[in-house]
Amino acid sequence: MTASEDTPRIVVLTGGTSGIGRIAASDLAAQGATVAVIGRDRTRGETLVADATALDGDIRFHQADLATQATVRSLGAELRDTYDRIDALVHNAGLSSRNRTETEDGLELTFAVNQLAPYLLTYELLDRLRISAPSRVVVTASDIHRRATLDFDDLQFTNDYDSLQAYARSKLATIAFTLELADRLDNTEITANCFHPGFVPSTNLFRDSPIWTRIMIRAAAIIPGIGTTPQEGARRLCKLVTAPEFGEQTGTYVTGNGPTSPSKAAADPENRERLWRTSADLVGIESDWP
Ligand SMILES: NC(=O)c1ccc[n+]([C@@H]2O[C@H](COP(=O)([O-])OP(=O)(O)OC[C@H]3O[C@@H](n4cnc5c(N)ncnc54)[C@H](OP(=O)(O)O)[C@@H]3O)[C@@H](O)[C@H]2O)c1
Repeated sequence: MTASEDTPRIVVLTGGTSGIGRIAASDLAAQGATVAVIGRDRTRGETLVADATALDGDIRFHQADLATQATVRSLGAELRDTYDRIDALVHNAGLSSRNRTETEDGLELTFAVNQLAPYLLTYELLDRLRISAPSRVVVTASDIHRRATLDFDDLQFTNDYDSLQAYARSKLATIAFTLELADRLDNTEITANCFHPGFVPSTNLFRDSPIWTRIMIRAAAIIPGIGTTPQEGARRLCKLVTAPEFGEQTGTYVTGNGPTSPSKAAADPENRERLWRTSADLVGIESDWP
């Protein structure tokens, strides 16, 4: 299949084995992109590849658990070895962890997967994005970030862990990361934008949440106008990857209403800078990049 004019040739997409990302991967492949999908589950990955191949699409699967920094680093090396260019890097993998769990690196799991993995993987793949410029970084955020508090003294909820608060904070962090990245990439022809896919109750995201959260989600899902479909979430994701305007616009947070201001805490330059430095510290790199 030949890529249409606005479709990036090589797209790296995390969290493409389920929900919004699975549909987005298939849609991008249908538009002619080669899509490198990152996921944990080989069977799910291979099924996705086979489904795409049957439709003449090109999806390749790379197995990696983004919770572990050593795995993110070796994934970075594997992707650099496999692809000499990366036109779009999409950070879509995400989770909400019911209990406070620590990764092998001793970090809170939600923050590690939703914020630190995108931070480190972007660092690992920056050369490929530069080679391919104009290129894009796209991040799946969430409007739930507006409910988040930011406590730099206990960023990873060692006290009073609450799964929804931890999830909301990780999404605030990821918006702050995108905006800061966009600023730092000024004049490089690499754009960085993030979006809210809508409230999509039918995905696997809250499978591990406390029962009361799942009941609330089920209840909210039946109220007309509140929930949306994974197809709509995927449509928003693909728009940031392919629409010409997001090859120009950078540092944008997009919801169903188009470009929108994120919360003050997410946009605040001091918070952004501090989160950038803290993330660098937590993944063991210098903060003066890119
Ligand atoms: N659903 C919503 O209402 C909603 C709203 C706002 C934002 N979002 C965001 O949308 C994105 C997609 O979520 P979804 O709703 O489509 O949920 P989903 O069906 O659970 O998909 C999440 C994806 O992330 C992957 N993932 C999770 N932890 C991972 C890890 N440690 N390593 C590698 N991959 C991992 C999952 O892989 P596996 O297949 O291995 O589990 C899956 O492919 C997430 O960033 C989520 O925060 C969702």
